[in-house]
Formats: sequence, structure tokens, C-alpha cells
Amino acid sequence: MKTQPRFLICVIGIMGITFVSSRAFADDKVDFEKQILPILKSKCFKCHTDKDDKGAAKKPKGGLLLITPEGIKKGGKEDGDKVVIPGKSTDSTLIKSIVLPESDEKAMPPEGKGDRVTKEDQDLIKKWIDGGADFGAWKGGAK
Ligand code: HEC
Repeated sequence: MKTQPRFLICVIGIMGITFVSSRAFADDKVDFEKQILPILKSKCFKCHTDKDDKGAAKKPKGGLLLITPEGIKKGGKEDGDKVVIPGKSTDSTLIKSIVLPESDEKAMPPEGKGDRVTKEDQDLIKKWIDGGADFGAWKGGAK
């Protein structure tokens, strides 16, 4: 059977459009491991972990373990599962705590205990939560 050249051009055209649009969509999505993890790692992990520098077990601050997806989903002892609510960044305690002024007692990191999360990074985390808070392939771990 002879394939019509016009048909072929059409198929190639559709494949091209699908490829370009899927790429555009992928670019718009926040990549947890590439974009969010480094922020949490440098600004939150040292307190919200279950291991000290020597690998000995300890309690994460506020009962909130941030070094695993399960810990983030479970939340802390006060707000429980409200720490990260997929699709609702404004209701998520994680966002609420990092946008507070440093002097607020609920601000994270606590006053004088670490660098604030920049406005740019705050927006990135908001975007990640509003986009569904997808952890991708991340399985957790402090390193
Ligand atoms: C120096 C230690 C320290 C650092 C760094 C730190 N935290 Fe905390 N965090 C705490 C303590 C202590 C509490 C408990 C506060 C309380 O009970 O009033 C807490 C509580 C929280 C809670 C509330 C949990 C709940 O449900 O009650 C959230 C959310 C939180 N931290 C997020 C963060 C984020 C996000 C970062 C990084 C930007 C961070 N923390 C960095 C010490 C820290």
C-alpha cells in the first residue's frame, strides 16, 4: 500500500505539536528534587530531621519531619496534615510559617536560627504546592 505524502506530513505535524506542548507543560511544573529540596535542605533539615550529625536518633522539632515525603505529608504535632495541602498553598502551614516576619514566634526558621527563605523561593514553594505538591521520584533522606 502506498502511503499518501499528505497524510505523513499531517502525522508528523501532529507529533511535533504534541511534543512541543508537552515540553512547555513540563517546563511549567516545579521539580521537587531540583527546585524545592535544596531550599528545605539548606534552611529546614537541621531541625526537622530524626537524626543528629552523628546519625543518632533524635526527635524532629515540632514533631515535623521534613526529610521524607511521608513526614511532610503527615505534618507536625500542632497542625498535623495541614503542613502541606496539595493545591492550597495559602492554607499550608509550611507556607504560612516562612512568609511570617522573623519576629513572629511562629516564623520559620525561628528568629536568629537561620536564613529566611527568599521571596523568590517562597513563590516557588507556593507554586509547587498549588501544582499538587508532587514529590516526583524523591524517596527522602537527609543527604
Ligand atoms: C533552628 C531550628 C529550626 C529550623 C532551622 C526550622 N524549624 Fe520549623 N520548627 C522548629 C521548632 C522548634 C518548631 C516547633 C515550634 C513550636 O512548637 O512553637 C517548629 C515547627 C515548625 C512547623 C509547625 C509544625 C506543626 O504542625 O506544628 C512548621 C510548618 C515548620 N516548623 C516548618 C519549617 C520550615 C519550612 C523550615 C525551613 C524554612 C523550618 N521549619 C526550619 C525549629 C526549626
